[in-house]
Amino acid sequence: MCGIVGYIGNKEAKKILLDGLCELEYRGYDSAGIAIMQQGDVSLFKAVGKLANLAAVSDGFESKGFALGIGHTRWATHGKPTEANAHPHIGENSFVVHNGIIENYAAIKEELIKEGINFLSQTDTEVIGHLFEKNLKKTNDSLEALRLTQEQLEGAYAVLIITKFENEKIFFMKKGSPPLLIGTSKNNDEIYFASSESVLIGQADGAIFLKEDDYGFVKKDEVKIFNHGEEVAFQVKKIEGTRAGAQKEGYRYFMEKEIYEQSAVLVDTMMGRVSKDRIVLEELAALGDLSQFREIKICACGTSYHAAIAATYMFERNSKIRASAEIASEFRYKEPFLSKDMLFVVISQSGETADTLEALKIAKNAGLKTLAVCNVDNSTIVRESDATILTRAGIEKGVASTKAFATQMLVFWMLSIVLAEKKGSMSNEAIKKEIETILKAKDAVVVEPAMHERLKRLSKRYLHGHGFFFIGRDIFYPLALEGALKLKEITYLHAEGYPAGEMKHGPIALADSELFTIALLPKTLLYDKTKSNIEELSARDSTIVAISPSEFDIADDFIKTKVWDHYMLEFFEMMVVVQILSLEVAVRLGNDVDMPRNLAKSVTVE
Ligand code: AGP
Repeated sequence: MCGIVGYIGNKEAKKILLDGLCELEYRGYDSAGIAIMQQGDVSLFKAVGKLANLAAVSDGFESKGFALGIGHTRWATHGKPTEANAHPHIGENSFVVHNGIIENYAAIKEELIKEGINFLSQTDTEVIGHLFEKNLKKTNDSLEALRLTQEQLEGAYAVLIITKFENEKIFFMKKGSPPLLIGTSKNNDEIYFASSESVLIGQADGAIFLKEDDYGFVKKDEVKIFNHGEEVAFQVKKIEGTRAGAQKEGYRYFMEKEIYEQSAVLVDTMMGRVSKDRIVLEELAALGDLSQFREIKICACGTSYHAAIAATYMFERNSKIRASAEIASEFRYKEPFLSKDMLFVVISQSGETADTLEALKIAKNAGLKTLAVCNVDNSTIVRESDATILTRAGIEKGVASTKAFATQMLVFWMLSIVLAEKKGSMSNEAIKKEIETILKAKDAVVVEPAMHERLKRLSKRYLHGHGFFFIGRDIFYPLALEGALKLKEITYLHAEGYPAGEMKHGPIALADSELFTIALLPKTLLYDKTKSNIEELSARDSTIVAISPSEFDIADDFIKTKVWDHYMLEFFEMMVVVQILSLEVAVRLGNDVDMPRNLAKSVTVE
């Protein structure tokens, strides 16, 4: 998720913009930039990498007197992290910063190029400035030009524009999920912009949260907001609290915030890739003809490895292609069988996991084509891979991975359908149904307050015991592994994920009332088989927590999930249940949920 800041007033603008961008660092970025206008002259600074690089290139510059400026930290979605791709992007006389995705940028860019416009970057953002100026030339009215531009841009975005044509105004527009706030000051002679409230704390006194389709402009003592051509009234919310608290946006932990963000980030993961009747993953072009691949081998660690196992079920079921998952630290030393017709896939949230990186190098040295499914552009694993599909989960601060896993699962679901279409392994009808279901994934991960409350109450019963089994069948087996890992990581209680059908081959000897079994019991996949496995455990007095859409009377605790018509929607909802159950047990135990003992967010060593 990119970060946006803006300022108009008489204070030194560069410092305010840089401080604001620092406050947004937690959102993750790979490049940054600022543009500051004084009496119609614009000073533009951009840098790849950390904000210290931007401070260095703008060292020695200070605004004097009245100035207006915009700033941006970029989390790449279109185009590599380079200075040319860093924001602000330039029209002829306009400078733009943008958070989100312009879905129809390619068509607009093509049109503008035909009209003689030259583009400097690979980004979707760059079309905004040129389109705004084209509309300005047509209407000779900056506000009308802005309205037209917003109307023409499809997707989800928060945008700031400064232009030499109006050197006392900052223009803004918002559509869809990316947040944009206006900060007002008590003395009413300066205005701020920010992507999150934490930036405004200590600077502004009040915040205006812009709404869907809002657009308008600010001058140093005036705010004008419009929506579909009409000026709209707005409310100013008093700003209070601390910056650290604001980064968590009211949640107790980053992990909790990231679980609640899953619905929004799944929308981002689909943006520009899933339409109602097609899935397009442009990134795959770098692999060449996909029909060359007879097998997919997926390599990862930890939670990403669980996504790898889950992906094999989807590839074999949907794409009818052989697929296998490997733990990277094992793969590295096992002298694996590799063949050139194998697509080697690595999954990594951080893109810096040493074992996964080394496994990738082994595959590359063996001459295999490589694909990374990763959350951090320009990371080492991304740079080393032939192609990358970015998961777009935004920065994940909680050490225990949640939204990264959710987006990995969605990427593989999409990829399995793209391959199914290429291989003709699914009918058009079936593909259409899958796509309709994929579009509902965002709904399946919405955290229902009543569910959260129930899990909070239930968690008090699971603070001890001599262990937990998480059990499931088929694709719910890797989810059982993931649920067990979540519990282990943040509660320090022992837990194992197990295939439900395997319990009778030994582990059931552990069954007694102190053994807690968390049973994933989806209605749409192997319900009866899984149910009988649970009954075997219950008959031996194991304490059962059943997670299922159907009442399950022999469970000691029952967590009722929604009725869905597809196993992946049940998967996503049960994923949220096991994430929150672990969170609430850890909270009761008083653990540091975001920074569990002994763990690091990225394991960059063997
Ligand atoms: C997951 O909750 C853990 N933090 C850990 O297992 C993690 O998934 C693993 O270290 C792999 O990290 P990566 O996805 O960044 O490669």
